[in-house]
Amino acid sequence: MQQGSGALGWLEMTALAQAMRSSLWLYPIVEIFHILGFTLLVGTVIAFDLRLLGWSRSLPINALAKYLLPWSMASLLLIVPAGLMMFTAHPHDFLNNRIFLIKLALIGTAGINADLFHATIYRSVQRWNVEATSPLPARVHALISIAIWTAVISCGRLLAYT
Ligand code: HEM
Repeated sequence: MQQGSGALGWLEMTALAQAMRSSLWLYPIVEIFHILGFTLLVGTVIAFDLRLLGWSRSLPINALAKYLLPWSMASLLLIVPAGLMMFTAHPHDFLNNRIFLIKLALIGTAGINADLFHATIYRSVQRWNVEATSPLPARVHALISIAIWTAVISCGRLLAYT
């Protein structure tokens, strides 16, 4: 492990970081919570995207959004703390890992894509809420979302091999 100075050096010497490295079970248990969290996030996001792409047209899009999106947000309460705990174990290694940086950049891009959707095309949802083809921008948003989250998961999994 690279012994560092500054904030990262301090972080990796904290009691939490040392426990994440030395305990046999803590890191895997924390990773399980991370996995539970992003399963809920990506599962709810892609279920909504598939509706935007035209599946289950009888389901009102705004009702589905009202049900699914709070779960997507709640999942961050598992994903982020668990991700940060794992990060503390090897902060230099992760920050020197291009796949990790790409993963974080993709997560940011997914957030911008979702915000843009809600701030623009979603405002007219009443016009295409049920039994209608979603407007092209909404379908493009959904395809971008599915592609980005697939890439985030791929980056996350590849972290163990890079
Ligand atoms: C928000 C959406 C996120 C998704 C979809 C996601 C996805 C993943 C996936 C698929 C893995 C691999 C799990 C495994 O194979 O066991 C992983 C591992 C990891 N993630 Fe995330 N992650 C997210 C956010 C974060 C955040 C915000 C951080 C914190 C900085 C983070 C830090 C990590 C770390 C450190 C690992 C462990 C790598 C390892 O030891 O193998 N993740 N993530």
